[in-house]
This record gives sequence, structure tokens and C-alpha cells, in this order.
Amino acid sequence: MASIRFDKVGKRYANGFVAIENLDLEIRDREFLVLLGPSGCGKSTTLNMIAGLEEVTSGKLCFGDQLVNDIPPDRRDVAMVFQSYALYPHKTVYENIAFGLRMRRTPQAEVDARVRSAAQKLAITHLLDRRPSQLSGGQRQRVALGRAMVRRPAVFLMDEPLSNLDAALRISMRAEIKQLHEEMQTTFVYVTHDQAEALTLADRIVVMNDGAIEQIGTPHDIYEKPATIFVASFLGAPPINTLDGEIGGASGRPVFRCGDVALALPPAIAAPTGSKATLGLRAEDVTLDPKAQDDVAIDGVVNSILPIGSDQFIGMKVAGREFFFRLAKDQACAIGDRVRLAALTNRLHVFDAASGRSLAGG
Ligand SMILES: Nc1ncnc2c1ncn2[C@@H]1O[C@H](COP(=O)(O)OP(=O)(O)O)[C@@H](O)[C@H]1O
Ligand SMILES: [Mg+2]
Repeated sequence: MASIRFDKVGKRYANGFVAIENLDLEIRDREFLVLLGPSGCGKSTTLNMIAGLEEVTSGKLCFGDQLVNDIPPDRRDVAMVFQSYALYPHKTVYENIAFGLRMRRTPQAEVDARVRSAAQKLAITHLLDRRPSQLSGGQRQRVALGRAMVRRPAVFLMDEPLSNLDAALRISMRAEIKQLHEEMQTTFVYVTHDQAEALTLADRIVVMNDGAIEQIGTPHDIYEKPATIFVASFLGAPPINTLDGEIGGASGRPVFRCGDVALALPPAIAAPTGSKATLGLRAEDVTLDPKAQDDVAIDGVVNSILPIGSDQFIGMKVAGREFFFRLAKDQACAIGDRVRLAALTNRLHVFDAASGRSLAGG
């Protein structure tokens, strides 16, 4: 059983800094869990506590039913892949991959079988005699993965393993890591600050902010139903458009108002008339529609156009803020055009201005 449970876990570093406070989290057996958040929010600290590389200073950390707070790293059945790869420069690829098995005095025939099987999966068999300095960044990362794979750990931990790779390689390695998870059938805990990486890899995402959890959910939930303005703003490229305004009510239906913007909200939005709110509107959640009804319309003058091949982003000022919208490339518009967009009402996000929490009911 490789489920992992954090029960009110805290981490106070030796200098007194509290990096993690009251963390409650249940990682399921064999799931691909991604810890996502900005630099410094406590992702590595959390992962290192699972690995046993950092001590838990309050609360309980359990693997299955076993309390592991005081279990040393080498007795936790976990393997970790670091951003820096941490390969031994003087050892061959083969010996780098074999290293953990040698430490455990695994018989040579078993070492050889496992190293070759991992190398084959990672398509690096032809590199086994080389040294790390003779490899590209992507190949080094594969070796680091191989070294963790041969251990056949119950839990696979990865801390920003793709951050040092170029953009194209990152995308192809994502697919490989996903494949690896399917083949290995073990629990993966993966740290990244890259929202796209999290959305493509995760069964569930844990969004962290300042040492605490903002939201836990499937990529779909996190993207479609952000619990806070922080989550809404952290996921999506370009970032979600936001506007500070007020909830109004006309004929029983809530409306968001700010300057000349007045948008009908989904009926489930639960907030009294007059309350301060922040609207979130994703770039893709509009259509170009000259005939749009007033209560869904956003009017403005196009001030920038960024074609991205499949689509185009247009920029325009909305109630004094610069908004970006994504339109199909065949929707003709030019800089200086006055356009009317229709917001997809049921995709609007509204947050309480003070707490930042979503006002969506249910
Ligand atoms: N050994 C340490 N001593 C004191 N503070 C630390 C130590 N390691 C990390 N921190 C602090 O803890 C916070 C979380 O760090 P970290 O878990 O590395 O964040 P992330 O991986 O999300 O970027 C940061 O503010 C960082 O400066
Ligand atoms: Mg980190």
C-alpha cells in the first residue's frame, strides 16, 4: 500500500521559518499527484518530508497505516528524481542507474536485468557505456529517471524534473513520464510550478500558496471550478482576465458590474446585492458576436492582435483594464476595430473581493 496521509503536518526550519502549516492531504495509492504552486510556496519541503529528507516538525505523516515521521529515507521505499539530476560524473550511465541497487547489494544478474529493462523503456540502451558529460540534458534526465525506476519504489517522487529541458523536450518528456506512471503502477508525487505540466500529467492537482493548500482537485475541477482567485489566476495562459466590481441584482438574477461592464451571472452565484466581487473571465470564454445581448456583452476597441497559429489573441481595454481574448483565427478583426464580444455566462468566475473565495454555489 502506497497511500500517503498528511495529518496536520507542519514544517518549521531550524531558523524558525514555518514553511508548511497544518497540511492535511491524502495521496491515493497509485495516483499521479502534482504539487503545483509558485516558487517558495513549500512544494519541495512537502516532497522532502515524504522522502524523509526533511523532518516533520508537527503532525503525522503516514504511509498506509504506518507512521513514518521517524523512519529514515532508506527505509521508506521511495525514490526521488531531482531537477539537477544529481548524476555521478565519473560513473557510466549503466553504473549511475545501477547505483541504488549496488548500495543494497542486489545480485549482479538482477542488477543487469533491471538496468537493461529500464534503459530499454527509456530508449537509452545505446548510451549505457557513456558518462554523463557525454549526454544531452534530456538524456541525463532519462538516466536520472532510470536510476529511480530500477529501485521499483512504492512511491516515485519528482521535484521539477523537466525544468532544465528546452520547451520541445519538456513536452515530449511529459508524455513519457505519463507513460511511465501507467507502466509502473505506483504512486507518483510530482512537483512543478508549471501549470501546463500539472494539467497534462496529474490525476489530481494540489495547488499550494504560501505553505498551505488552496485547492485539491482533478485538472478539470481546478481549471473549471477554481475555489479561489489565486487558483484561477495561477492556471491558464494567458492568465485569466480579472475585474474588481460589485454584485447587482435585476429581476432575481445576479449581475456583475464594473464601470460600463454589466454581465449576467450564473444563477448559482451566491452573494448579496452590493457585495464587492472580483470577476474572472478566461481568454477563451468569449465569442465575437455583434448581436450579443447587452447582459452578456463586452465592448471595446482592439488594440493588439497576437496570432498563435491555431487561434489569435486580441487585446482590448475593458473597464480600464487590459484584457486578452482568444478567438478562432478565421474571426476577422483588425487593430482599431470596435468589437462586441459575448461572454459565455455559465463560464464566468466570481470571487468574494475580501477573501478571494469563489462565490459559485455547490
Ligand atoms: N533549509 C531551510 N531553512 C529555512 N527556510 C527554508 C529552508 N528550505 C526552504 N526554506 C524556505 O521555505 C519556503 C518553501 O521552500 P520550498 O519548499 O523549497 O519551496 P518551493 O519548492 O515551492 O519553491 C521558502 O520560503 C524557502 O525559502
Ligand atoms: Mg522547489
